[in-house]
Amino acid sequence: MTDDDGELEARLAEGESFEPPASFVEQANAADPAIYEEFEENWPECWEQAADLIDWYEDYDEVLDESNAPFYEWFVNGKTNASYNCLDRHLEDRGDEIALQWVGEPVDEADRAFTYEELHKEVNEFAAGLRDLGVEADDVVTMYMPMVPELAIALLACARIGAPHSVVFAGFSADALATRMNAAESEYLLTCDGYYRRGDPLDHFSKANNGLSGVDHDVSTIVVDRLGDDGFGHDLSDDQTAYADLIAENEGATVEPVERDAEDMLFLMYTSGTTGKPKGVKHTTGGYLSWAAWTAQNVLDIKPEDTYFCSADIGWITGHSYIVYGPLALGTTTMMYEGTPDYPDKDRLWEIIEEYEATQLYTAPTAIRAFMKWGRSYPDKHDLSSLRLLGTVGEPINPRAWKWYYTHIGDEECPIVDTWWQTETGGMIVTTLPGLKTMKPGSAGPPLPGVDVRVVNVAGEEVDPGQAGYLTVHKPWPGMLRTLYNNDERFIKEYWQEYSDPEADEWVYFPEDGAKIDDNGYITVLGRVDDVINVSGHRLGTMEIESAIVGVEGVAEAAVVGGSHDIKGEAVYAYVITEEGYEENEELRQRIIDGVNEAIGPIAKPESVVFTPELPKTRSGKIMRRLLENIANGEELGNTSTLRNPDVVEDIQARAQNS
Ligand code: PRX
Repeated sequence: MTDDDGELEARLAEGESFEPPASFVEQANAADPAIYEEFEENWPECWEQAADLIDWYEDYDEVLDESNAPFYEWFVNGKTNASYNCLDRHLEDRGDEIALQWVGEPVDEADRAFTYEELHKEVNEFAAGLRDLGVEADDVVTMYMPMVPELAIALLACARIGAPHSVVFAGFSADALATRMNAAESEYLLTCDGYYRRGDPLDHFSKANNGLSGVDHDVSTIVVDRLGDDGFGHDLSDDQTAYADLIAENEGATVEPVERDAEDMLFLMYTSGTTGKPKGVKHTTGGYLSWAAWTAQNVLDIKPEDTYFCSADIGWITGHSYIVYGPLALGTTTMMYEGTPDYPDKDRLWEIIEEYEATQLYTAPTAIRAFMKWGRSYPDKHDLSSLRLLGTVGEPINPRAWKWYYTHIGDEECPIVDTWWQTETGGMIVTTLPGLKTMKPGSAGPPLPGVDVRVVNVAGEEVDPGQAGYLTVHKPWPGMLRTLYNNDERFIKEYWQEYSDPEADEWVYFPEDGAKIDDNGYITVLGRVDDVINVSGHRLGTMEIESAIVGVEGVAEAAVVGGSHDIKGEAVYAYVITEEGYEENEELRQRIIDGVNEAIGPIAKPESVVFTPELPKTRSGKIMRRLLENIANGEELGNTSTLRNPDVVEDIQARAQNS
């Protein structure tokens, strides 16, 4: 079978399906098909099964309190600690087993492994160090870190002392760091000197310092020395402490895990929304941790003896739930890789999987499409037979990429879980249980047991199978966000207003994704229906990018849309009106690209910048983004009759073709 078999795509689109391989089924964690019915009948008590996966200092009184919906409370009055659950309780049986296997980008550098005992030790020392700096329970600690072990250590150290963490993706810009630290009123930052990218050391510390200059309160900063002799010779200022010194000063220290209420905040994660201002998604200790553990066990099929590999970044929710909390709560070996899949060559992931005999791979469709483009010779060079399960997350996977993954990485021996979820959902909510359900390439699957997801029309009525509609969630689940940090009002407005009936106390969560459902209840996610785009599985708000562009001197107005892209899924397309007196030229185009890079980071850089004298607008002045999307995708233009200025569209189309 060739990699570019168009016929295959057509056949798959017609609904070819696959049964889970027998070798997998016989050992699957989720093995009883009755679970779907049982959970439906026994809801919400069914979620005691998730809570039972973690240890509690004090048992909860009630599984779910709905009295203040949609501010739901799970495992009411239960007391627990996430760091205890991810470390201490495994020490007796698994103290000498590897908890964290880290692989650095440079191939000639020794990989670092931490046993549960070792990870526990360093987490305790760092937790003591954080306390020395004054960190107390409920103080938000920001991490602006690449994929080095100290990031995972810091998460667990914060959890230990009840200080919520807020991780800002290292690829985000200095401005993005400052915005998030200000919004969270975070007075502590963990960062590092730099990291490696494609063989070169990269200066991260200057970026962090630039960010700090935009923070409107005092910050105490801890700096990890990642680069050693390859570093940039930066000096630390008085309010900056070397991570190594803090650890050395606390050598052998132990810190009792702080008892946290189930509903106490475990962490904050800023994510993009419809407005230019990122949303601080709040996750709790009991519900989130139970959810991460339960889904990791039942969907990713994690067992303690596994070596599980998720190639996401801890700067995003996937890394939180499925590199750190879920896998470590289950006492397994979780892997962490610093670099990119194509350095020093395009077989780096396969080399890592072979070397460590990884049992699961959880990655993004954008990576799979790149692997497919590079060709099967790269995986074929390696023995990938240790793999038992494959997973994808972050964006829809096209059936052909699915099939390539199934065939060339899984050797038709591994089920694929296509997991739909969001920063807000805390963990997976729509996906197959891998030992129990037929797989349909391109469709994430049915909702998990006990999860009530429906596809509805604008009026909130369920659509017929095959019809496009909106994804909605009709029952709460333990891993759900509890609110937006300091902004209950926006929480209601963004997620609950659209389909709920508050008078009847009926609450429906709206994730802002389009979807369709088939006769068997399998859900195919069609993508975002708000102004959020998904570049390489990374969530970006078009408004954030627009405000970065209009911040560039010479720009009067800008509209940004997502257009389809072979590898990235979606790419950023910008349409820009210049200010009077400024020329539409290469220099301005470059300044726009640099402006976005500076305000958000390289992932948000526009693929194309088209200058235009006008933007297509409705009579009420709203930009018709749909038409701009048509242009970005080289598609026929949709209906332009409602436009105030219909002629402008063809003009933009011509300009786009020439740009
Ligand atoms: O549009 C959906 C898409 O990613 C969005 C959530 O992005 P984020 O909060 O950054 O979390 C990404 C990792 C969980 C969703 O609203 N998405 C996520 N998973 C899938 C997906 N789209 C289709 N299929 C998926 N499996």
